[in-house]
Amino acid sequence: MLKIAVIGGDGTGPEVVAEGLKVLKAVAEKEGFSYQTKDYDLSGQAYLARGGDPNLQNIPVVTDEQIDELRKYDAIYLGAVGDPNVAPGVLEVGLLLRLRFELDQYINLRPVHLYPGVYTPLKDKGPDEVNFDVLRENTEDLYFGGGGFLRKNTPNEVATQEMIATRFGVERCLRYAFEFCRKKNYKKMLTLVAKTNVLTYAHDLWWRAFNEIGDADYPDIKRDYNHVDACCMWFVKNPEYYDTIVVPNMFGDIITDLGAMIQGGMGVAAGGNINPNGTSMFEPIGGSAPKYTGKNVINPIAAIASLAMLLRVVGDQKGDQAVANAGQRVEEAIKKTCPKMKSQSANQMGFGTSEVGDMVCQAL
Ligand code: IPM
Ligand code: MN
Repeated sequence: MLKIAVIGGDGTGPEVVAEGLKVLKAVAEKEGFSYQTKDYDLSGQAYLARGGDPNLQNIPVVTDEQIDELRKYDAIYLGAVGDPNVAPGVLEVGLLLRLRFELDQYINLRPVHLYPGVYTPLKDKGPDEVNFDVLRENTEDLYFGGGGFLRKNTPNEVATQEMIATRFGVERCLRYAFEFCRKKNYKKMLTLVAKTNVLTYAHDLWWRAFNEIGDADYPDIKRDYNHVDACCMWFVKNPEYYDTIVVPNMFGDIITDLGAMIQGGMGVAAGGNINPNGTSMFEPIGGSAPKYTGKNVINPIAAIASLAMLLRVVGDQKGDQAVANAGQRVEEAIKKTCPKMKSQSANQMGFGTSEVGDMVCQAL
């Protein structure tokens, strides 16, 4: 029995998650596995209704009890986080980052695969060229929250924001990336993206760990390195160069938005926050799109692709072949659906949100 906690979240999140759940129901029947879901209302509205301060987190967005409950699931399926009535950062830090940290989801897997029939702004590039995976470290770097103010709100104020790299955190991420690349068996090339020429402490640790682990345990994987700025250039010019990329948190955040654009936009880009030994969380990487909320015009493909990733990752993790097959099947159904759509952009798909969900179910 596959147990999934569902957090629709804000804006269009619940709408796209509903389509994903529709596809889950259909594919579970076809592949013959059972599952149960439970909804958690962890939206910005729910936070405000409980007396949450819109400007500064005064009560937990997600409580300790809820976190402990969430740990018991096989996976979390998340829609979107971000409400215009709540100051930026409150929900992102209070919910999304908190879950990533507390559940120790130390890998953020963001495939950059252009589906057939999907428009890419890159001239002369197709699904064969835009076809790589980014593994973003998800618990350290600039995201751990260290820093502070000195003389705040005075003319002499100082703010610091600290970046950390721990050998433990870097090593477990690198090992996951080497394994991923080996299992994928494509070009067998793992690219570390960092900035060793400037971040001479944190990224020196990454560089040394990358080479030591690679030499010792992954001689079959070719090691490659890009500075992050050059990587942005190659994403646009030569995306076919890449196989698997491993990258620290902050740069990973940035390059995966660029990656999402070359794979057809936020309407299709999926992501997984993975704890290989615990509860992982899957989410479309786009935001809550407040202006499209409730209009049935948002693209659910990214959410459905996140569901496919959930099934593949959790199926593999639990050794449940039916579930893993279901993930593959959903992925294939997406590939058949995309070419029928006019565009992957909200409001321009030629179909409504729920029709696209139906089309994926049909294609299963
Ligand atoms: C993402 C988002 C988050 C991040 C924000 C909302 C905290 O941009 O998932 O990429 O920076 O990780
Ligand atoms: Mn981001």
